[in-house]
Amino acid sequence: MQWLAQAPANIALIKYMGKKDSSLNIPLNPSLSYTLNHLLSNVVLETIAGKKDYWEPLYIPGASDFSLTTSSQERYLAHLKKIKEFLNFNGAFVVRSSNNFPTGSGLASSASSFAALTKAAVQAICELQEKPCLPIEEQARLSQLGSGSSCRSFFSPWVLWDEHQVGPIELPYPELIHQVVLISHEEKKISSSEAHQRVQTSPFYAMRAKNASDHLLGLLDALQKKQWHTAFEITWREFQQMHQLFTTCAQPFSYITEQSQALLKVVQDLWKHKQDGPLVTMDAGPNIHLLYRLDQQNLAQEFKQRELVGNYDVL
Ligand code: PMV
Repeated sequence: MQWLAQAPANIALIKYMGKKDSSLNIPLNPSLSYTLNHLLSNVVLETIAGKKDYWEPLYIPGASDFSLTTSSQERYLAHLKKIKEFLNFNGAFVVRSSNNFPTGSGLASSASSFAALTKAAVQAICELQEKPCLPIEEQARLSQLGSGSSCRSFFSPWVLWDEHQVGPIELPYPELIHQVVLISHEEKKISSSEAHQRVQTSPFYAMRAKNASDHLLGLLDALQKKQWHTAFEITWREFQQMHQLFTTCAQPFSYITEQSQALLKVVQDLWKHKQDGPLVTMDAGPNIHLLYRLDQQNLAQEFKQRELVGNYDVL
């Protein structure tokens, strides 16, 4: 028997960085994300004899090849094992997965891939055990054990996650135009799991939870009042602050390259010149996410044509 599930990526405007409990991925601070419904992971599970699961790429005709490193496969299968234990299931699956965004695009795909695996596994096991399916909130909490940020991929468009709960939050701008500028295609050297650990040694870590909570309140207020410029300023401060934790910890590192800096400057100039522009954020990687309101469609097109096309890959 086979089960298929799909889940989207999400981009945090208020970041999850630092954990209160690493074994359960309890976040240090609340985060706010926008779900990227066009960047999807697909997972197909099929029952097999025995007890040992294995992974292989999901073949989708016309799509480019997909692969996972051995350690990523192990982490993925370890999450499946946890779900099986939680649901008291002894059987085994072959897990086939892929993303609809190019492999090696430098985009963190753990949120969408862990959410899709959790959905598929819960659906499969509940059906095999002839039990009612777990509510979506419980599936999200289960997914959080594999990748914290994946719990936000169960809801759309705006999602709030704190140490107690995760769920959608109603805000203006239910639909935004999202572009991600691919600065680097390389696999990142410091994983986000490693980053969560290292930042604890930054002198700024002690203030991080308070700062992130203040940013969250400010951003929610700005979005609710449709103060786009303020939303831009807070979002900007927020990602800069997360990246400052990276450069100031005991084993410092940085994802921001010269090319990222150059493009950030171009976007800042756009804002200065037009007094308008996209919300800008960066995750634990060098790529730059731009979020425009729907009424900024022309601006988004113009900026892409003038500054991005020919210089960068844009998804
Ligand atoms: O879910 P993780 O452990 O991959 O952490 C994700 C952390 C960031 O992407 C950097 C920020 C976030 O909130 O998504």
